[in-house]
Amino acid sequence: MTASSASSSQSVAKNTDATDMPRHIGIIMDGNGRWATRHGLPRAVGHERGVEALRRTVKAAQKLNLDYLTVYSFSTENWRRPVSEVSALFGLLKTFVKQDLARLKREGVRISVFGTRAGLPDDILELLDKAVNDTRDNSAFNLGIAFNYGGREEIARAVRELAVQVRAGDMDAADITEDMLSSALDTHQYPDPDLIIRTGEEHRLSNFLVWQAAYAELLFMDVLWPDFGEAELVAAMETFSSRERRFGGLKSGAA
Ligand code: IPE
Ligand code: IPE
Ligand code: MG
Repeated sequence: MTASSASSSQSVAKNTDATDMPRHIGIIMDGNGRWATRHGLPRAVGHERGVEALRRTVKAAQKLNLDYLTVYSFSTENWRRPVSEVSALFGLLKTFVKQDLARLKREGVRISVFGTRAGLPDDILELLDKAVNDTRDNSAFNLGIAFNYGGREEIARAVRELAVQVRAGDMDAADITEDMLSSALDTHQYPDPDLIIRTGEEHRLSNFLVWQAAYAELLFMDVLWPDFGEAELVAAMETFSSRERRFGGLKSGAA
C-alpha cells in the first residue's frame, strides 16, 4: 500500500482521534543508494541526504506527539556491503551523534540503541554509549536507533539469556512466557510498534523487529528515504488511522 497524499500535520491533529494515533513507529530507511544513482551521484551522497531526512523525520515525529520512533540504520546483514560503504555508514552515524546529540538532549529526547555490540569498532561503541547515557533522564520523546541490529540475532541473544537463568536454576524452562522473551529483547522498554514504514519500493522487513512486528500495520512507501519528511510521515499516520486493527478478533460491530 502506498501513501501518496501528503497533507499538513494540522489535519492529522484535527481529524485523528488520539486512539488512532500510533504510539510507536518503526522506519526501515531504505533507498539512499538508488536516490543517489538516480541523481547521478555517488551512493555516499545518498546516505548523507538520508541523515538529513532522519533529522526532518525526528523533528516531525516530536511535533506530531509520537512517543516512540525506531529507525533502522544498519543491519547485521549490511556487513555484506563493500568495506568502503560500511565505513561511510559508520562515519554518518558518528557525524549524526556528534552534530545532533546536544540538541536532542536539550529537546528531551531519550536515545536507545538496539542491536549487538559484536563487531562494532570502539569509537562507534563509545559514541552509542554516550548518546544513551547523556539522554537517559529524558522522557519527552524516545528515539530508538537500530544499529548492527537483526531481529533474529536479538531473539537468539534473548533466548541465550533466558537459558542461562534456567541453567542457574532461577526458573523452569516450562515457565518461559512470551512476555519474558519480550522483556529480554533490546526493545524491552518500548511498546510493540503500531506501524512499520518501509521507504524505497521494496516490500520486506529485512530482519527489522521481527518479533515485535507481529501485529504492526505495515506500510510500504515508494518514496526513497532521502526524499522523506514531515509530509510523508503525516501521510503514513493518516493511512494508519484509516486501518482497522483486529488482533485476531472480529471487525468492530460484527457480532
Ligand atoms: C538504506 O539505503 C541505508 C542502509 C541500508 C544502511 P540503501 O543503501 O539500502 O539504498 P538502496 O536500497 O541501495 O537504494
Ligand atoms: C534494510 O535495508 C536495512 C536498513 C535500512 C538499515 P537493506 O537495503 O539492507 O535491505 P535489503 O538488502 O534490500 O533487504
Ligand atoms: Mg537498500
